[in-house]
Amino acid sequence: MCGIVGFSSRSTSAVRPLVSGLSRLEYRGYDSAGVALESTAGVRVFKQTGKVAELDKLLKRELPEEERAKYTLGIAHTRWATHGLPTVANAHPHLADGGRLALVHNGIIENYAALRDGLERRGVEFVSQTDTEVLAHLVAAFDRGDFLAAVCEALKRVEGTYGIAAISARHPGEMVVARKGSPLVIGIGEKDTVVASDVSAIVAYTRQVIYLKDGDVAMVTPDGVDIHSLDNSPVSREVQEVDWDIGAIEKGGYDHFMLKEIFEQPDALANTIRGRLDPGGGTAILSGLNLSPRELAAVRRLVIVGCGTSLHAGMVGKCLFESLADVPASPEQAAEFRYSNPIVGPDDWVIALSQSGETADTLAAVRESIRKGALVSALCNVVGSTIAREAGRGVYLHAGPEISVASTKAFTAQVTALLMTALKLGRTRRLSREAGDRLVREITGLPDLVRRVLAQSEAIARIAEKYASASDMFFIGRGILYPVALEGALKVKEVAYVHAEGYQAAELKHGPIALLSEKTPVVALLADIPGKEKTLGNVQECRARNAPVIAVATEGDETAAATDAMVVPKTCPELAPIVSAVALQLFAYHVARLRGCEIDQPRNLAKSVTVE
Ligand code: F6R
Repeated sequence: MCGIVGFSSRSTSAVRPLVSGLSRLEYRGYDSAGVALESTAGVRVFKQTGKVAELDKLLKRELPEEERAKYTLGIAHTRWATHGLPTVANAHPHLADGGRLALVHNGIIENYAALRDGLERRGVEFVSQTDTEVLAHLVAAFDRGDFLAAVCEALKRVEGTYGIAAISARHPGEMVVARKGSPLVIGIGEKDTVVASDVSAIVAYTRQVIYLKDGDVAMVTPDGVDIHSLDNSPVSREVQEVDWDIGAIEKGGYDHFMLKEIFEQPDALANTIRGRLDPGGGTAILSGLNLSPRELAAVRRLVIVGCGTSLHAGMVGKCLFESLADVPASPEQAAEFRYSNPIVGPDDWVIALSQSGETADTLAAVRESIRKGALVSALCNVVGSTIAREAGRGVYLHAGPEISVASTKAFTAQVTALLMTALKLGRTRRLSREAGDRLVREITGLPDLVRRVLAQSEAIARIAEKYASASDMFFIGRGILYPVALEGALKVKEVAYVHAEGYQAAELKHGPIALLSEKTPVVALLADIPGKEKTLGNVQECRARNAPVIAVATEGDETAAATDAMVVPKTCPELAPIVSAVALQLFAYHVARLRGCEIDQPRNLAKSVTVE
């Protein structure tokens, strides 16, 4: 949420790297953007509302090419508004010290009002409504000649979360960066050093990176990086190599990242599965869980925490754990969990699901569960992310970078990882080797099944054409397909701006059916799972109210009762959510495309929600 880029070089102009870094981070927030550039003459700031392209246009107008070479140090930001409207005044970087100091910030300063009062009493004038401007003035107030020390002093007074980068004309050539609860990565290039809130803005320059930890403050100069703790003592952090390259974060011929990521799923899932199945033992090998059979056997209850799409994956996980391992499982919305004084303890296994590994509410749920002594694991996609590190054990999804704001391949990878976890847990209990073997075979064939759904993209596009103008839609499913109904509705809401509701198929007649008419398409999840016959009955109820029904049905089993059918291959109930979800992703994508929506960056949203 919000993106930060910083660039420091001996000889290269910072302007282009900052702007292209921001474009790569735009998926994290895109309501305004800005850069601050330092030269011997001082700091210059350019800010614009709207997308990074608008900022680029402003720079082209106001900063001629020939002037750019002198700016070899700079910071930049793309914003997702929390405090104050998306205006130029509220856009980052924020200035202090008479325009000499510039600072960009991700996160939320919770005590900003008190800090602002104190600064105002000392005569500081504010020009924005943001919490970040407070931080800029606070750093300036503590600047007595040592920039890093000034940042440390300011941060000691701050409650909340931050990833920051700051420059000051009083300290030429220096950039100070720090993190607490909001990621920050430093890329060590041969000639240049790049800082970003996400490694995707760095890989164009280098794959050698340092992931800062909470409480780290670093001085970045063209000569290198010095990392300290908040009390200003030196700390050392390992340089790591990023294991994917720039191709993974480019569109590669697709019109949108969302479509590319939908189509990447066979490979993404093959990566999630690779090396993790044990056909002989009929189980899964998930060494990152770091749990002995004895520890697994002692688990009495599972709690699965996550938000949004990750929560929906967790709801599928509940069904898998209960059916394969006979262990009660409850999916919990992470923010609710955290504030509900959750009853978890040493017999409970809390699994946190997060694509980004940075979602604030999920992280808080992890911390609360650790405090309460539960066994905690994380299933994350982003390697080295905060949730993955704090949980200390878990399963990486290895689905590759997900750039589209709407999550697709992370969902199917999460469900696959949960299925393997449930298989492993099940094998410590009642699940026989034969049953385990059957699942191992099914999971091995999953990438091919998904390929067969993708082959339906054109057919699904034709169905989308019929319904793209609807203003309301319903998605119904039961059992393990109910969370997929929720996920299908979420996808349509966020990328196509169509009001959509996901319901348990049987629940429709307890009220919502009053809304059905020939104008409200109902997408019915009818893949082969126990209870399908009952859902067919619910389809009849919808048809009797003239609602068109779009079935997501198994090949050869397209129900005559439905108006249209998206066909998915026949598979076992455990994999039905995955193939059905892929069909719904395509449906949402095509509806959004036909409605002319901004698919990869839907309005009001941002990837990676690092605020509560
Ligand atoms: C929906 C979507 C969000 C995220 C949610 C959690 O398409 O992307 O609902 O799933 O914000 O994010 P992670 O998984 O990064 O914790």
